[in-house]
Amino acid sequence: MKLKDKVAIVTGAGSGMGRAIALGFAGEGAKVLVTDVNRAGGEETVKMIRDQGREAVFLLTDVSRSEEVQKMVATAVEKYGKIDILVNNAGVDLLGNSQTVAEEDWNRTIAVNLTGPFLCAKYAIAKMKESGGGVIINIASVEGLSGLSNQVAYSSSKGGVINLTKCLAIDHARDNIRVNAICPGGIETPMVMDLVNKEGMEPLKKYLIRQHALRRFGKPEEIAKVAVFLASDDSSFIIGSHIIADGGWLCGKSMSTSEIFKGQ
Ligand SMILES: NC(=O)c1ccc[n+]([C@@H]2O[C@H](COP(=O)([O-])OP(=O)(O)OC[C@H]3O[C@@H](n4cnc5c(N)ncnc54)[C@H](O)[C@@H]3O)[C@@H](O)[C@H]2O)c1
Repeated sequence: MKLKDKVAIVTGAGSGMGRAIALGFAGEGAKVLVTDVNRAGGEETVKMIRDQGREAVFLLTDVSRSEEVQKMVATAVEKYGKIDILVNNAGVDLLGNSQTVAEEDWNRTIAVNLTGPFLCAKYAIAKMKESGGGVIINIASVEGLSGLSNQVAYSSSKGGVINLTKCLAIDHARDNIRVNAICPGGIETPMVMDLVNKEGMEPLKKYLIRQHALRRFGKPEEIAKVAVFLASDDSSFIIGSHIIADGGWLCGKSMSTSEIFKGQ
């Protein structure tokens, strides 16, 4: 087991990728503090982990609120004695361009997607330093590396997460804390599926699938495997990096001329 007796915090673990990462870590022997603003989802994740005979506990935590983040970090230490791994996964995707996005939605997106990872890192790193080191994994996005229309707040927040990753990595490498990011493409989670499976959204779904050279969305478990790699000693010389796991989204334009004419 790659994470035997490690203690991990996974934010936003009540759904999608966070749940898959929490399950993946527990399957590799880690004890997991599952946190989310969604109590029902978080408790379900804990149940799934315990059903596998592994250890997890849930804490209601809004990552955009400093006092809740500090409680999250204190709870991990009280319950399990230390923090080895933090996964900053919680996120929101509020649509709009500069003219249509409400200021409130911009502020919320930055608060959850960028300030959240900063706060969690700030307080977790203090504890990691006391116990001799740790690993932080930030879930960014292909949209942090390229723009996407109508996603000005989301894309900007994820670009920030990639540079947050680099700054944290540089500042804390000699504290034995490794910080990296993952940039997923479109993944089959409620964040994406709830939108594309709505009535009338079939063209958007087709369009998004076509952005991937593999011509499919990724599965949360495919990202969880990357997270296990980054959390484990297998990635001991990797710091400040972002691993792109996007089915070919960023490789380039992948439609052939014949596909374009066939409208595939
Ligand atoms: N699904 C994709 O295609 C995709 C692609 C790239 C990156 N991402 C990123 O992956 C991460 C996970 O998203 P997902 O696709 O699994 O979506 P999801 O909606 O299934 O899960 C996100 C979770 O975050 C929680 N959350 C929201 N606001 C929170 C807050 N303030 N504090 C704590 N928890 C909060 C939600 O309750 C939810 O359980 C996000 O950061 C997202 O931006 C998703």
